[in-house]
This record gives sequence, C-alpha cells and structure tokens, in this order.
Amino acid sequence: MAMAGSAIGLGNIWRFPYMVGQGGGSAFIIVYLLSTLLISLPIFLSEAAIGRKTHKSTFGAMQRLAPGTPWRWLGLLTVISPLIILSYYSVVGGWSVEFLLKSLTFSFSSGDEAQIMGFFGSFISSPWGPLACHTAFLGICTLIVVAGVKKGIEKFSTWTMPVLFLLVVFLMVYALTLPGSKAGVDYLLKPDFSKLTASAVASAMGQSFFSLSLGVGTILTYASYVHEKENLLTTGLGTAGFDLLFALIAGFAVMPAVFAAGIEPAAGPGLVFETLPYIFAKMGASTPWLSGVVSILFFLTILVAAVSSAISMLEVGVAYLVEEKNFSRTKAVCVLFAGCWLLGALCSLSFGPLANVKILGETLFSFCDKLTSNFLMAFGGLLFTLFAGWRMKKADVRGELRAGKAFGLLYFLIRYIAPAAIIVIFLTNLFL
Ligand code: TRP
Repeated sequence: MAMAGSAIGLGNIWRFPYMVGQGGGSAFIIVYLLSTLLISLPIFLSEAAIGRKTHKSTFGAMQRLAPGTPWRWLGLLTVISPLIILSYYSVVGGWSVEFLLKSLTFSFSSGDEAQIMGFFGSFISSPWGPLACHTAFLGICTLIVVAGVKKGIEKFSTWTMPVLFLLVVFLMVYALTLPGSKAGVDYLLKPDFSKLTASAVASAMGQSFFSLSLGVGTILTYASYVHEKENLLTTGLGTAGFDLLFALIAGFAVMPAVFAAGIEPAAGPGLVFETLPYIFAKMGASTPWLSGVVSILFFLTILVAAVSSAISMLEVGVAYLVEEKNFSRTKAVCVLFAGCWLLGALCSLSFGPLANVKILGETLFSFCDKLTSNFLMAFGGLLFTLFAGWRMKKADVRGELRAGKAFGLLYFLIRYIAPAAIIVIFLTNLFL
C-alpha cells in the first residue's frame, strides 16, 4: 500500500489523462502498458532487489554491495534527488491544501466563473498564502514520517489508499453521468494511431517512469523494509497495476467533466486548479450543494494522493540520516524539513516576487522540476538497472526476485532493454 501510495500522485491526476488524449487514446494506453512491463517494471525490480538484499537505504546499500567504489555517488545522488522533488512537490501540495480549504467553505460553488478560474493565478503569485500552505503540507508529511515506518507511513497508506480509490471511483461515476460526458470518454479511449508519434511514445515511457516513482531510491528504500517472505515481483506488478488503474479512473473522473462543461482540456496545474474550479462554479449555478461536496472530495483526493507520494520522498533522506549518520528519527525529519522548506519556499516565491530569478532560463520551480523529472530520475534509473544487471551477483538478483521461469526474461530486460530505453528517453528529453 505504501508503494502504491508513492506511485499514485499528482502525475496520475493531472498528467496521465491529458497525455492519453493527446497521444492517441487507447493506442497510447497500450504503449504505456508495454513500457510499464518492459521498462518500468525491470527498473522497479532492480531497485527493489538492491533494497531488500541489503535492508539498507540507497547509500548504505551501495556501500554494502560495492564498497569503496564510485557507486557510492549513486547512493548520495539518490538521497538528494527526492529531496529536491519534495521541495517543489510540497509547493503544489500546498496549493491543494488551499483549494481544499476554499472548497470546504463552498467557495467554488457560488460566484463568478471567470473570477473563480482566475483565482489560481493570483493566489500562486502572492507571497504569503502559498508559503503558509507549503509549510502546512510539509508539516503534515513530517508528522507522518516522524511517527515511523510502521506507525506512520504504513498506517497512513493502509488507511488512505482504499479511501482514495473509493473517492476517485465516486468522482468517476458522477462525471460519467453528466450530460455530454461521452466526448471525454472518447477522448480517452478512441484509438488514434496517427497521434502516436515518436515523442508520444517517449512521453509514455517517461510518464510510466515518473508515475512509478523510479530512479531516486524511493522504491529501494521502501523495499529495504520488505520482509524476506514477500514476493517482489508480485509487489511490483501490484504497484504498477494499482497505479495504472488509478490513473485510468482519475482520467474518467476528470475528462468527461471537462468535456461536459464544453471546454478544452489542459495539462498540469491548469487542469486541476483552473479548469475544474470553473466546472464547479458552473455546476454550482444549478446545484450548489452537489458542486460543493464534489469539490471537497476532489481536492481531498488530490491532497491525499500528494501526501502519500511526498512521504516516500522524505523517507529516503530520513533513512540515510538514521542509518548512516546515527541521527534520531525525529532529528533527521526536522533537519530535512528545514532544508526542503527553504528550497520549497524559494520555489513557491518563484511564481511571484522571485519570478525574475532564472537558472538556465527557468524559474527555480521549473528548474527543479525539469532537473529531476527529465534528468536525475532517468540517470538514477539507468544506474540502478546497470547495478542490478551487471554489478550485483546474478544469484542474488534471482534470490530476491524469485520470479521462477520468468527470471531469464526479466534479467534480460534489466540488463539490456531497460537501460537502452532510458538512454532513449534521456536523449529525447535532451533534444526535444
Ligand atoms: N509517482 C508520483 C506521482 O505520480 C510522484 C513521485 C512520488 C515521485 N515519489 C516520487 C516522483 C519519487 C519521483 C520520485 O505523482
């Protein structure tokens, strides 16, 4: 459940549905499924095998399996990358806190539609509100992680994941009953192979990679807590299955509503924080109660999905400080809270007062996003598959995966196919 929680996040709700529509509907979904099975699953299993073999987080695992080699830099890199992701992810998590609070007072269900749609732009460019919400979001994650792996992360995930599914299923059923929703279903399902360009294929691979939280040691760290008797292959298949299922249901919750309201779908923050409030406002004109309740449930879904991903990013650094630097759990979490809060605060301000501060032409928020999503994750994923495929003993990998007859195929994917595919994604991101 915790691994599913890490995988299910903002990526499923605001990126996947749009990408499916743009990339040729079910044609894109088939490519996505193939990339998950042939590329993401082998990376997932590489990380998981390393983590469970050593029962250590990234840095310790590298020290144990390849002591005194440059592999320790991979250990360090993967301590730092999830913390960078967490810093800007927490800013977005903070926006969902604000939108949940606003929906609790039914603010989206009564009022002028254009004004409600414009709220997002004015909110994120103001300094204090977003900073307070970023602090609150990171604070929630900190409290969960400080409570421990079993009593915090696992407990939170086992309680919230089923609720999250119920919520999103309810939203889907509701959206599908709206008049005009059929166009949204067609948008997601109608196969259109002409839209399946090389760049759509590369984005299917990249999305599957991002969505399964690969390449930054999250899966490795969680797997280090997994008991010997569990089967990693079923864990991997289960996580990938839940993740895809959730993404599809989220797609059927969002896109039919967008089309029923007669607007063009957008990607990213605009879809969740502008288009949907507009829809709630439109609904609110005739059924304010229903619109209010649906908006609360929707932003609650986003918040829970974001928290369950964010705690997995925090745990990687916490595990490092506790295992390698002998920090107490509380001290480790507090130190990381301070660091991520600061970087996140700067990212948050980069939508307003710091909008003119650019790194390589990007604001700090978008620099952190691009650096991690396009490069550090791909780089980390590549090194993990190379490590499991070429550096670890084959018998150890076999012993961890316990995949029976499928091991030969999986090992081939880990050694050759996944690394080659990551290089392709990497180059596509670099040149497109
Ligand atoms: N998978 C998450 C999503 O879809 C994002 C995420 C969670 C993540 N943990 C991660 C991304 C670790 C990279 C690394 O939103």
